[in-house]
Amino acid sequence: MERIIEIEKISFENEYEKSLRPSSWDDYIGQEKIKKNLQVFIQASKKREEALDHVLFFGPPGLGKTTLAYIIANDMGSNIKMTAAPMIEKSGDLAAILTNLEAGDILFIDEIHRLSPAIEEILYPAMEDFRLDIIIGSGPAAQTIKIDLPRFTLIGATTRAGMISSPLRDRFGMHFRLQFYTPEELATIIIRAAKKLDKECHKDAALEMAKRCRGTPRIALRLLKRIRDYADVANEKLITLERSCYGLDELGVNELGFDELDLRFLKILLESKGRPMGLSTMAAALSEDEGTIEDVIEPYLIAKGYIERTARGRIATPKCYDVLKLSNPYSTGLFGLEDE
Ligand code: ADE
Repeated sequence: MERIIEIEKISFENEYEKSLRPSSWDDYIGQEKIKKNLQVFIQASKKREEALDHVLFFGPPGLGKTTLAYIIANDMGSNIKMTAAPMIEKSGDLAAILTNLEAGDILFIDEIHRLSPAIEEILYPAMEDFRLDIIIGSGPAAQTIKIDLPRFTLIGATTRAGMISSPLRDRFGMHFRLQFYTPEELATIIIRAAKKLDKECHKDAALEMAKRCRGTPRIALRLLKRIRDYADVANEKLITLERSCYGLDELGVNELGFDELDLRFLKILLESKGRPMGLSTMAAALSEDEGTIEDVIEPYLIAKGYIERTARGRIATPKCYDVLKLSNPYSTGLFGLEDE
């Protein structure tokens, strides 16, 4: 089943998402601190007529790492080349990318924590000294050829702060951790996106979607797209609160923004009756891979205090029990546990 709040692992979004993507700082909502700092650093490097220092973005999928990279490129007046670490398999792949860069270009590498150690080794001198060291041959006869590279900016993005090696992390001059968005920020994003889609969206309808999108603009925009379908079929020019609630319920996204996968996760955790649950056990019980659990399901639940990760495993917090008891037990199915 398609997961309405599924987020792509590799952020090569479709045209629809691209068209809703803000292209300038003025259009970009939220992440105020990051925005303010980046604007200063960009202004300074433009003043010095230098390439911007390398930038690393951390954070769960869908919060705007790619969008920020595009805005940086736009502000710097630079070309941006996008790739993802799993696509760089051989040293020749990276060498080809690097030697094709022009001065001031931005290279965006998504999922940068997935680069192999051998590829990372090539990246270090490229980042530090703008130099490519190519080793020809092996053993005592091996030779290193050094190729100068133009001054470029690497923007790395990762969902796993802990999995990026420290030598690589240390070579980025700026580190930014993206935060989940507030409902008000998300509602503004939704209303603006609706306008771009030639649809009016009531503030309360937007807020309802905003509350149910796990603090994530990419999910908010997907929900908007689907709610727009419901409104279009009902011949409604305006998206109302009623249509929004109806659509969200139909899509199986509950009042807390949890979808079926979140609920199955929490149900399994609650069934363990307070005993911590290890990642591999959870993955087996959910039939999901560990990466999806760690990158997609857990960050929001942890940020909102529904679960905690302890050394012995995951546990549900008192808030989790409280809130789930207050939410509609029939729509969530959580409280049919005793009957199973
Ligand atoms: N679309 C997706 N993310 C956005 C953001 N942070 N601001 C404005 N529009 C967006």
